[in-house]
Amino acid sequence: MRKQTIQIPQEEMDRQFDIMRKIRERNENKEKVTGRRPVADVRTFGCQMNEHDSEKITGMLLAMGYRIKEDDQAPDLVIFNTCCVRENAEEKVYGHLGALKKLKKDNPETVIAVCGCMTEQPTVVEEIKKKYKNVDLVFGTHNLHRFPELLKNVLDSGTRIYETSGTDNEVAEGVPVERDSKVKAWVTIMYGCDNFCTYCIVPYVRGRERSRRPEEILREVRELEARGIKEITLLGQNVNSYGKDLRNTDGENSNGAGYMDFAGLLSYICENTNIPRIRFMTSHPKDLSQRLIETMAKYPAICRQLHLPVQSGSTRLLKMMNRRYTKEQYLELVGKVREKIPDVTLSTDIIVGFPGETEEDFEETLDVVRKVKFDMAFTFIYSKRTGTPAATYPDQIPDDVVKDRFARLLDAQNKNTHDSNVKHIGETLEVLAEGQSRTNEDKYTGRTQGGKPVNFTAEEDVTGRMVLVKITGGQTWYLEGEYVRDV
Ligand code: SAH
Ligand code: SF4
Ligand code: F3S
Repeated sequence: MRKQTIQIPQEEMDRQFDIMRKIRERNENKEKVTGRRPVADVRTFGCQMNEHDSEKITGMLLAMGYRIKEDDQAPDLVIFNTCCVRENAEEKVYGHLGALKKLKKDNPETVIAVCGCMTEQPTVVEEIKKKYKNVDLVFGTHNLHRFPELLKNVLDSGTRIYETSGTDNEVAEGVPVERDSKVKAWVTIMYGCDNFCTYCIVPYVRGRERSRRPEEILREVRELEARGIKEITLLGQNVNSYGKDLRNTDGENSNGAGYMDFAGLLSYICENTNIPRIRFMTSHPKDLSQRLIETMAKYPAICRQLHLPVQSGSTRLLKMMNRRYTKEQYLELVGKVREKIPDVTLSTDIIVGFPGETEEDFEETLDVVRKVKFDMAFTFIYSKRTGTPAATYPDQIPDDVVKDRFARLLDAQNKNTHDSNVKHIGETLEVLAEGQSRTNEDKYTGRTQGGKPVNFTAEEDVTGRMVLVKITGGQTWYLEGEYVRDV
């Protein structure tokens, strides 16, 4: 039986706040003596979940009186927020950890912490213990809210501390957040994943599905709205199963008070706020309901954008992946979405080289790509993850075969992405201006309703404004245009 999700008691959160205050006093005193506020450096790997977790880590660090590293100041504290979804993500982190040896040698006082998905694997913790002795603190994804206490213990005792895998049915509310953007914001609606796709490590490192209460989510969205945030993205590994763990535990009556599904949550936010843009990710095709499609079509604030990972076009492989839909069901679902929301921007994730993938299986994937004509696709080479069922499957595919298929897949999809972009040339689209373009400071950057990046010229700083942009060009990864007027 599924455990019901509970909120971490306020007293526990208050304790963390007390500790944050104590560390802050210490850091302020240090500044009085040395003239320098301790500096922290947060390095983030992985997906939006991790990016948002790093915003929480940064929020806690600021509450503890640290300055966040800018330019080349030597840090007093380095935190790696890690990802392990594919092998190369892990290798990158080990590379960086190795490179820190010099930093620690030059300044032995520097504290090095590692957290995030990687550390929820016991083998990784063992590896760090053995080979990376300069790491002072290891914590996981379940005990992020305990970071202040763990850090204090390291600072006080000078010993190394490892604490991962807390309880699996709790959510923390009220952790301070320092958001990267003044225009848009992530809002986590649920943590964890219960799907156990056979290739994927996420359910093992992020734990069981835990939904935040609708009132807490609404409170956060209202606060963001009051601060002038124009766009929110609701985050979860599978937002379509939102709320299931908040149901009453008495079986038949489980649809009773307190239970709201994802479509219900979206309506609740739309009815009770005026936030101009709402996005969400990710949607698992097996759980995408007609009710959700209709809710998306009903409210103008919900962006006409859907990230719907297909992973493979072969029903045989989908079964081996434990995705619980067939190729035909996926195509039918896309048809239903496009029928209600004809201008929807559709993106997907695809894995190439899953164990046992034959040329015929791969052709089925190409067939889906050609039929659906995704606006965008994130394509991945299968990576064996120890501890997942697929790691033990026979017929792991040789590298050269996978590389060849990957290149063919990219060819097919690049054509779709290009077509999807050039079709906008000459149109005038609504864009939320996010700031100056990183690559070209004379230009501004933002996204269309459908989520496509646009670099555009404007006479004045339009950051934070919803503007109309005339599209003049379409590159593979972004559109180009000219500011017309504010919306
Ligand atoms: N919860 C989201 C995605 C999480 S991970 C979802 O279900 O869509 C993001 C993407 O990484 C997945 O969609 C998948 O395409 C890819 N991925 C996950 N495990 C992988 C592995 N072992 N090898 C290669 N790609 C993988
Ligand atoms: Fe991984 Fe599947 Fe869960 Fe996505 S739905 S996080 S791919 S197990
Ligand atoms: Fe995200 Fe990587 Fe963890 S993709 S959930 S940071 S394993």
